Amino acid sequence: MNGFLPYGRHSLDKNDIAAVVDVLENGALTCGPKVDEFEVAFAQKIGVAEAVVVSNGTTALHLALLASGFKAGDVAIVPSVTFLSTANVVHMSGGRVVFADVCPNTGLLTVEALEHAYEKSGGKARAVLPVHLTGQSQAMESIHAFARDRGLTVISDCCHAIGARYKSGGSPGDGQYDDFGCYSLHPVKSIAMGEGGVVTTKSARVAAHLRLLRSHDMRRSPEDFTRQDLAFDENGNANPWYYEMHELGYNYRATDIQCALGLSQLAKLDQFLARRVMLADMYDDLLKSLSNILRPNPRSIDCSSAWHLYAVKIDFAAVGKSRAIVMQELTAKGIGTQVHYIPVHEQPYYQKEYGEQNLPGASAYYAGTLSLPLFPAMSDEDPIRVVEALKTVLF
Ligand SMILES: Cc1ncc(COP(=O)(O)O)c(C=O)c1O
Repeated sequence: MNGFLPYGRHSLDKNDIAAVVDVLENGALTCGPKVDEFEVAFAQKIGVAEAVVVSNGTTALHLALLASGFKAGDVAIVPSVTFLSTANVVHMSGGRVVFADVCPNTGLLTVEALEHAYEKSGGKARAVLPVHLTGQSQAMESIHAFARDRGLTVISDCCHAIGARYKSGGSPGDGQYDDFGCYSLHPVKSIAMGEGGVVTTKSARVAAHLRLLRSHDMRRSPEDFTRQDLAFDENGNANPWYYEMHELGYNYRATDIQCALGLSQLAKLDQFLARRVMLADMYDDLLKSLSNILRPNPRSIDCSSAWHLYAVKIDFAAVGKSRAIVMQELTAKGIGTQVHYIPVHEQPYYQKEYGEQNLPGASAYYAGTLSLPLFPAMSDEDPIRVVEALKTVLF
């Protein structure tokens, strides 16, 4: 591909466009059959009983937390290297965050860091939100065992991990090592819905609760009705307009327009993933010659990555240039890069809430990380172009 290479981009074709146009011309725009169709297809792809589609990854995380029974004043453990949402949903639910440290090389939560964060919570934490950063997972079996023994709900942030597979079988979010999987279908993610999100669970009862919460907890089943005076007519039949709300819910629905696009994209997930794997392998080979100052994130021994991101660690001190200058010089050469992520505990909002914190793994990961361009439409020449530009800029 010529021209500017962003770090990530959606891949749309004529079939995707036709799927959306078909809904616009013939279908319900929201609350229609594409929503159910998408949910069935997504659940099948992950290998889990239930998938509930919502408006984005943030609302997916928020609803998972609420459906787990998390309440105002409860504590959740969040690894600091993540997007803002993973921590924000805890505050949106009235809870408190204990930020956990991460492995300085992979950016992933470790069991030791989880243990430390749990102790810091005084044994009060009720949930942990492991982030499957860049598309990989590590030690989920041990994280799950630790959480289970202490009654912690495990809410997997799988926003990077659609298509990841555990080497032992199964996928993040399939309920094997987590109670919920939460996904984003933002355009830079593995598949795009414009905006979109999904919560997965093994439980039909929990899925029904999630579906109520995403739509103001509007209950329309007569067996749920508690207001006999308002709900039923003189013959004991439910009034046709009637609904009831028992708890606070939200409008976190996804439209049929989004779900039609999601379905069409989901059908191409394997093909997208195969291309991402191929490009990542090419990068690994090409980058060997830079190994004294740059090395790719180590690959997890526990899973095959979904390759949402191709992140490398650069020794900027050895290069003699700051990351800002390196990124600017790469941009000038037509190469987009990004930093995933500024540790969330460093955000002014959270500093005000919790004060200064020392999370050396998160700081070390952040100091060196850079995400290189990776998306399915990249050509075989693009990784070569990126690595040539890196060589010019770094040496
Ligand atoms: C790790 C992680 N968590 C949560 C989110 C939130 O997803 P969304 O942007 O769809 O709300 C994102 C997306 O940027 C993410 O990368």
